[in-house]
Amino acid sequence: MTLLVTVACGKFPPELRAQLSPFPEVLNNGTQMSKNKTAVIVLAAGMGTRMKSDLPKVMHPLAGRPMIKHLLATVEGLKPERIAVVVGPDMDDLEQAVAPHPTAIQTDRLGTGHAVLAAREALEGFTGDVLIVYGDTPLLSKHTLVSMLEARRTKPNPAVVVLGFRPFDPGQYGRLMVDEEGDLNQIVEFNDATAEEKEEDLCNSGVMCVDGKLLFNLLDQVTNDNAKGEYYLTDIVELAGEGGSRSVVVEGDEEELLGINSRVELAAAEAIIQDDMRTKAMENGVTLLDPSTVYFSHDTKIGKEVTIEPNVFFGPGVTIGDHVHVRAFCHLEGATLEGGSTIGPFARLRPGSQLDQGAKVGNFVEVKNAVLEKGAKVSHLTYIGDARVGEEANVGAGTITCNYDGFDKSHTDIGAGAFIGSNTALVAPVKIGDGAIVGAGSTVTKDVAPDALAVSRADQRGVDSWAKRFRQQKNKD
Ligand code: UD1
Ligand code: CA
Repeated sequence: MTLLVTVACGKFPPELRAQLSPFPEVLNNGTQMSKNKTAVIVLAAGMGTRMKSDLPKVMHPLAGRPMIKHLLATVEGLKPERIAVVVGPDMDDLEQAVAPHPTAIQTDRLGTGHAVLAAREALEGFTGDVLIVYGDTPLLSKHTLVSMLEARRTKPNPAVVVLGFRPFDPGQYGRLMVDEEGDLNQIVEFNDATAEEKEEDLCNSGVMCVDGKLLFNLLDQVTNDNAKGEYYLTDIVELAGEGGSRSVVVEGDEEELLGINSRVELAAAEAIIQDDMRTKAMENGVTLLDPSTVYFSHDTKIGKEVTIEPNVFFGPGVTIGDHVHVRAFCHLEGATLEGGSTIGPFARLRPGSQLDQGAKVGNFVEVKNAVLEKGAKVSHLTYIGDARVGEEANVGAGTITCNYDGFDKSHTDIGAGAFIGSNTALVAPVKIGDGAIVGAGSTVTKDVAPDALAVSRADQRGVDSWAKRFRQQKNKD
């Protein structure tokens, strides 16, 4: 029989807290538990057919990085002794994404129990606690995993801890069968459940914490005698009970246990992550005029007293200093904006863009791999790529750095205090000296000396009364 204690996440009943394991360790919340070692097995062998994608499901991005990286970042926070990721055959990109963590390949996809068995070698000789998580559950929190480890390490030291939850719609989740005394007898998969069992609203999230000394012995006893003909990981609860070992349920929140099986669920998870990042940004002193229209990346860094207007997208690798103003409709990736700089509306900063203090990028300006030094201004309709714009330089509307000749990229250097007239083509490699002026409409192919004027447009010609005669002629026709 399996004894089951239902424990709300993070809130440990005093009677359990009082019964300490032999080598107690005080955690942040005052709970004491034994110093067992932790290993984590992440199951990610499924392609996720409902995603209708060529990409393995767990490689689909959330906030700019594969969903499995979110989960790995969380479990890394537990500082486990080992992390092993079970992947399917031919998933090289996934193996690279999870490196340096070792992967185990599950060649045939015969069920979650079979998948954990694939990690047997990776866990060779490990006798601590094994956390098993599903790669398609990226919102799982460290706090919840710690609660599971606590439950496992607190007397009566259950052999299996299952993370349960009560979803609004229990759908096809496995059901945790708890009897009147609060004991769990087994986990019943939806396809094998009777109508009565389907009434149960306490569901299996898929996350488990298992005594590493028992895990593989239990899995060796699992058979595929069920509706799906699969080796279910969930069967180990009943098998543990038969062997006289106990189990516990820790209850978690539906939101963080969202499993991603379709692109609709992917979008739901993205919405949750974005909301979380928006809230954190505002709590840290960032004003968002219309939070729901601003999209961050997992690694976006923003200083204080920053204002972000509506409809702004942050790709990966953006760092924003204090007192920066991001006006409406900007798109940024791989960009660094230092204190007091301003961009937009409608600016695009591509990778390698750097704005030093007080620099300004205005509307319909694209910047790539370029530094705008202190106080430099590029206010309208311009492309600055592979360039330096010196301190306090002013680049006029419609300026283009012609950085690409179809084969190679070349650099444009604009000196401090230089003034580039509107509609100028700077044909790289080219250097404009400090304080130089380039006349509007020029095509600059040669270096310009400091403080010099460069004009390369055709001379203007005037013909008196020509326009008037032209109109008269046309009106006669
Ligand atoms: C599983 C649970 C169910 C639980 C649900 C929560 C079992 C038998 N059932 O069902 O009780 O309510 O998750 O979401 O465990 N995987 C492999 N190899 C396999 C099979 C699965 O790596 O051979 C991986 C998948 O990539 C996925 C995870 O295991 O990350 C879960 O597999 P899935 O088929 O989605 O399980 P469910 O049917 O949802
Ligand atoms: Ca699933």
